[in-house]
Amino acid sequence: MNKLQHFLVNRFWNRSHEQGGTPTWSQEPGVRQVLNRRITGNEHQWPVEWFASEIADGQYPRILSLGCGVGALERDLASKGLCGTALGIDLSERALDLARQQARVAGYNHLDYQRADLDNLEFEPQSFEAVFVHQALHHVRDLEGCLTQVAKALTPGGVFYADEYVGPSRHEWSRELLQVAEAVFQTLPRAVRRRRRLQLPVDWRDPSEAVRSSDIISAIAERFEIVERRDYGGNLLALIYPFLLLDGLRTPERRKLVDELLAREDGLLAAGAESFYTVVVAEPLGG
Ligand SMILES: C[S@@+](CC[C@H](N)C(=O)[O-])C[C@H]1O[C@@H](n2cnc3c(N)ncnc32)[C@H](O)[C@@H]1O
Repeated sequence: MNKLQHFLVNRFWNRSHEQGGTPTWSQEPGVRQVLNRRITGNEHQWPVEWFASEIADGQYPRILSLGCGVGALERDLASKGLCGTALGIDLSERALDLARQQARVAGYNHLDYQRADLDNLEFEPQSFEAVFVHQALHHVRDLEGCLTQVAKALTPGGVFYADEYVGPSRHEWSRELLQVAEAVFQTLPRAVRRRRRLQLPVDWRDPSEAVRSSDIISAIAERFEIVERRDYGGNLLALIYPFLLLDGLRTPERRKLVDELLAREDGLLAAGAESFYTVVVAEPLGG
């Protein structure tokens, strides 16, 4: 990242975290259960709960969390007794302040936060037993450098957990790629459509958004053995959601509309569409 990109990314995320973030498709009532079902097979079991019960090897003495934002993931890991200590790193000072505050309020004094750039990492070898990332790798330009450092930083037998957007990168998006979602959008009543047409799903104010998202899986596979992968779609609803006007709908109508979009998305995935979002659990090659 050059100096200007660094400045823009930092400003974008400081503002975003200060404003409490933007509501996303996965926060819409009813969606979480479907995503849980797709990932864990159980609508009531969240991905980290699944990780804790099916994969985790007791408590990890040292956890690293990449692009931690305001620290929700580390607090979740702490609440499940998964971390001896956790270090969250992020570019946004504002996010780190909020993460520190919330860790203090929750009484988690084993959570630590430091500013770092995922495009310019340097870790001591074997300094963490587990590394987690939730929706931050798709902001990384130097995926090779970042993931090489992560693999080096893990102890033998260590685990890497990534919950990520791995769909088209920002420069790959086109109206053509949006065609299926656009066709579905056009079937919705005009009253629930915020715009006449969908826009490409890239926030151009953030130069790091989806900068190399479509390379993430291959960059992981070159450095890690992927031991589990759970795709959870997003190919329709994530694209359409920002352009929906749902607040005027009664709860049952709102649920029905979202459920229909999710059912269509299930159809696309069943027909072989490559999932835009995925959870990957991996171990360093030779580990
Ligand atoms: C979509 S948010 C995810 C935050 C958090 N992991 C979560 O799931 O709530 C992306 C985060 O990546 C951070 N980020 C973006 N580019 C970064 C970089 N080059 N180095 C470190 N953090 C970065 C942003 O500041 C932001 O907090």
